[in-house]
Amino acid sequence: MVERIAVIGTGYVGLVSGTCFAEMGHQVVCVDRDENKIVRLQQADIPIYEPGLQELVAANMQSGHLSFTSNLVEAVKVSDIIIIAVGTPTLDNGDVDMSQVRSVIAGMAPHLTATKIIVMKSTVPVGTGRWVEKQTRELAPQHAHIHVVSNPEFLREGSAIHDTFHPDRIVIGSEHAESGARIAAIHAPIRTELLMTDRESAELIKYASNAFLAAKISFINEMAHVCEKVGADVGFVAKGMGLDRRIGPHFLNAGIGYGGSCFPKDTRAQLKIAQNVDYDFKILRSVIEVNQLQRERFVNKIHRTLGDLEGKRIAVMGLAFKPNTDDLRDAPALDIIAALQKLGANISAYDPAAAVHASKLLTNVSLHINPYDALQNADAMVIATEWEAIRQLNYNLVRSMIKQPVIIDGRNMFEPKEMSKLGFTYISIGRTALSLEMVI
Ligand code: UDX
Repeated sequence: MVERIAVIGTGYVGLVSGTCFAEMGHQVVCVDRDENKIVRLQQADIPIYEPGLQELVAANMQSGHLSFTSNLVEAVKVSDIIIIAVGTPTLDNGDVDMSQVRSVIAGMAPHLTATKIIVMKSTVPVGTGRWVEKQTRELAPQHAHIHVVSNPEFLREGSAIHDTFHPDRIVIGSEHAESGARIAAIHAPIRTELLMTDRESAELIKYASNAFLAAKISFINEMAHVCEKVGADVGFVAKGMGLDRRIGPHFLNAGIGYGGSCFPKDTRAQLKIAQNVDYDFKILRSVIEVNQLQRERFVNKIHRTLGDLEGKRIAVMGLAFKPNTDDLRDAPALDIIAALQKLGANISAYDPAAAVHASKLLTNVSLHINPYDALQNADAMVIATEWEAIRQLNYNLVRSMIKQPVIIDGRNMFEPKEMSKLGFTYISIGRTALSLEMVI
């Protein structure tokens, strides 16, 4: 059945979900209070970098399935399903900032008529669904029937469209069987495991999943340190662990730690949610601490390898928190650059997508979208994001361009033996014992 859907919030989650629901044949209107953004979107001008999204937005606008507006009231009036996908950032005290969710409810509730299903897609603390339902019913006209369903998203930036159409599961938390079934039905073309739960469990599944994935990353990063001490290779250790089906091979890449808009925010929020119910989530506290330390340890590694950094020029290759995105939110590269600058280094940096955006966040960094421009006259090369374009560089040329043939790789992009054959001192994560001795 074709549903009329309003998606509120055209950030990453809202824009991708709205577009994908339109692609599945529903009638979707995406709403945002930022009028400039809406004007751009109405011309299929996408404010984020996401492969394939622009084409999908344009096609669905053309077919009449997708439209954009800043008029919240009109959008909810013509829709039966209202998906809330506004931002839920973390406040300084660690609590989740729910102001955008509150403002959406206050703005739309008095205009809700008949039966409306509100779907919470934003990542929100446990109990939010219950609270939203109560609050909306209080503010809505008496004849309105409001049901709130939790339907968390698990999409990754850079593969958001693929993840939406091919998810590992769809989770629907509802206290009202009919509304839950209707939200399940809007996903009809997707073939995957459908998990129907109570609302609180659905809300927790999102946080629990992100916290667990973050834990896998911090675990392997800690293992990487042990590997360096004992002369083992973390790549083999991760591979051997991952072959155990109970562990699985994913999210065991050692590196400079996780960044982005979700893991840092959601792990901190989950820790605070636990604290608020008087529970000290010890593992999670360590996961967060290890992730921060990982950045500092990497800077120490660069320092140890290159010696005094005063006046040295370091080419930092990759700025985004991961490849295939221009997103710099909580990107490890930003902290690493700031720390290197503090130690007196001059920084030139390359990123194929985030360099322009980075100019607003970084000072005294010469930014480049051509990798060789960033490497010119650098003392050494540091890899912070595993962009394919960095893998594809001509490393003979790179060696001739940088003053010392030293690569410090925070993403383990290369085989140490290969790089050493090419004449580099190649330092990476969790497999550098031998090379470190060479440097010392
Ligand atoms: C994540 C979750 O994967 C997704 O389900 C959720 O909805 C939002 O948060 P995203 O932030 O887009 O998605 O990126 P992801 O690909 O998960 O990577 C997160 C961070 O972890 C990146 O900084 C990445 O470099 C790092 N990472 C990932 C590692 O350091 N090692 C790994 O093995 C995997």
